[in-house]
Amino acid sequence: MVARPGVPPAAPLDSPGRLPFNRRSDPRRRDAVHVNTQPSHRPIPADLVEHVLARLGERSIVLVGMPGAGKSTIGRRLASLLKLPFVDADHEIERAAAMTIPEIFEKFGEAEFREGEKRVIARLLEAGRHVIATGGGAFMAEETRAAVRERAVSVWLKADVETLIGRVRRKSNRPLLAGADPEGVLRRLLQVREPVYATADLTVQSRDVAHDDVVAALLATLARPTAGVASGDDPADPGPSSRGDRPMSTVLARDADAVADPPADGQGRETVTVGLGARAYDILIGRGLDAGAEIAARFPGARASIVTDATVADRHLAAFTDSLAAAGLEPHAIIVPPGEGSKSFRGLETVVDGLLEARRERGDLVVALGGGVIGDLAGFAAGIVRRGMRMVQVPTTVLAQVDSSVGGKTGINARQGKNLVGVFHQPSLVLADLDLLATLPERHRRAGYAEIAKYGLIDDAGFFAWLEDHGADVVALGDGLAHAVATSCRAKARVVAADEHETTGARALLNLGHTFGHALEAGTGYGERLVHGEAVALGMAQAFRFSAARGLCPAEDAVRVERHLRSVGLPTRLSDVPGELPDDEALLSLMAQDKKVVRGKLVFVLATGIGGAFLARDVPVEAVLAFLAQERSGQGRSGQERSMPELSEPEPASKEPSP
Ligand SMILES: NC(=O)c1ccc[n+]([C@@H]2O[C@H](COP(=O)([O-])OP(=O)(O)OC[C@H]3O[C@@H](n4cnc5c(N)ncnc54)[C@H](O)[C@@H]3O)[C@@H](O)[C@H]2O)c1
Repeated sequence: MVARPGVPPAAPLDSPGRLPFNRRSDPRRRDAVHVNTQPSHRPIPADLVEHVLARLGERSIVLVGMPGAGKSTIGRRLASLLKLPFVDADHEIERAAAMTIPEIFEKFGEAEFREGEKRVIARLLEAGRHVIATGGGAFMAEETRAAVRERAVSVWLKADVETLIGRVRRKSNRPLLAGADPEGVLRRLLQVREPVYATADLTVQSRDVAHDDVVAALLATLARPTAGVASGDDPADPGPSSRGDRPMSTVLARDADAVADPPADGQGRETVTVGLGARAYDILIGRGLDAGAEIAARFPGARASIVTDATVADRHLAAFTDSLAAAGLEPHAIIVPPGEGSKSFRGLETVVDGLLEARRERGDLVVALGGGVIGDLAGFAAGIVRRGMRMVQVPTTVLAQVDSSVGGKTGINARQGKNLVGVFHQPSLVLADLDLLATLPERHRRAGYAEIAKYGLIDDAGFFAWLEDHGADVVALGDGLAHAVATSCRAKARVVAADEHETTGARALLNLGHTFGHALEAGTGYGERLVHGEAVALGMAQAFRFSAARGLCPAEDAVRVERHLRSVGLPTRLSDVPGELPDDEALLSLMAQDKKVVRGKLVFVLATGIGGAFLARDVPVEAVLAFLAQERSGQGRSGQERSMPELSEPEPASKEPSP
């Protein structure tokens, strides 16, 4: 126990009862609280700790469960990690009563003990944010459960009966288990208590493993977005709706929203607004949009320069130009070769030349008709020509409709790496016409789908679950497509409005899968061996496996991610990439070249589970190397990894990332 200097003794909060439980049990007293300063031995990312504390807000963590579940030991370690005070409620009761619990039972009986226990726990809950370990029977009192619900997150440390018996045999201070048949008593208590423990907000298995492993699992569970919601389908569980306003359950509400049909106007179109104040803009999502009419209505008097690639031009340019011409936008087209190679200084020069030669002014429009390559390139040109022209994004790939056309990140690749040269330049309008996707090759539909799945994996477990049922339909451009695009755009719009320039870390979560993915893209020459969305899919699968390997995320979630990505034909393993890959050191150096490096430390988006992405800024290089070696050796393979049929054969890839 460590004293907390400067904390004044407070007046008793309790009204006197028959038992003197109010005697010295105010946790604000310096001697009533264990402040933990011992660090845990298991490395836990600081970001995860911050994330959990932010999610908790002002709430305490209350551990419930049977005697022997490890509430005090685990609670003390958890408190140490979170740098919160730890209180063992039983110790508080003993202190308040100035006698041991067996003595209280003997002198006053169980009923009196329970009354005192309720009062002590109520006071502890009122005394600020703590980690509180409760006695085995405490949570059985409805009053206590209500108080915990209001001020804390409850966690049931669940242990199987054999583990409990083994542990309680070693302890002698449990009056209920002091008789001749402690095992029988324990089993009977379990039957009565388990259904009530199951109403706790979270359940964590307390196994006979290192305590730090249980604490890591507990921390990961607390970090999950669904933390704080109903724990199961137990009929005794009143469910989230009856639990009042619980901030940690807000994600569940959004999950429910995510599976509803998007609101649409009379023509089946939906508008998502990116809320950036004076620079706010709309994303119009629908089928058969009249681009000319939509653009001209919003930008009267402007002229339009279309930037596109040769493949898209073949399929869509004639009709698109007609639409713009009919609306008086005086279109002309600048056409670059298809593929990542156009996101280059040479490609930029072509576009800038085209705009200047056509004598377009600041008030005119650059219209990007194409995938992410065209959007990034045309957006960059629009951002720098005449110190900034207005721009309209007309995305023609799944990836561009759900991701790259929204948010104003523009740029080109450099010899040193991808997207290293660019500016933030928001579009003034995004027109996502789902019909334009009909000509997109299946491989690119699947690749774009990786970015859709990404939104579910980041913070929308409900959307991911929906995708598990509808993924194939979305890739086939079926009825689910509109919902998938709209949900993705809403997610992206939310993030961009919250963190436009990627300064708070919120937007950086969109880089899930990118640290691994970009290195693989670079390592395969930015060519047909691995297109961007495929690299993201593989990177996301790796990010989940890496998270699981670091004890942050349940292994089942990593398996689920892999299973789903594979089910739509996306790569998830290094062995899925045709041809030779750079060795681990070379991949690491490509990761370090990536812009997601802050002062030499590797920055990864890791996850505590599906829908629980977080930014880890301090990932040690050795951990990455060990993980890559494990990936290469095929350890931990799920048995599904050999059924990846659809990637193209190796083609001679450009050595230059961005010629
Ligand atoms: N700015 C951002 O926020 C952001 C986000 C994600 C990705 N990106 C970037 O996006 C790029 C990848 O985008 P992409 O996957 O759309 O690639 P892409 O633009 O190269 O398009 C893929 C291929 O599909 C063809 N194509 C496009 N639309 C078509 C259509 N409707 N019918 C037939 N063919 C069509 C293209 O010609 C190209 O060959 C990468 O450079 C990546 O860095 C940017």
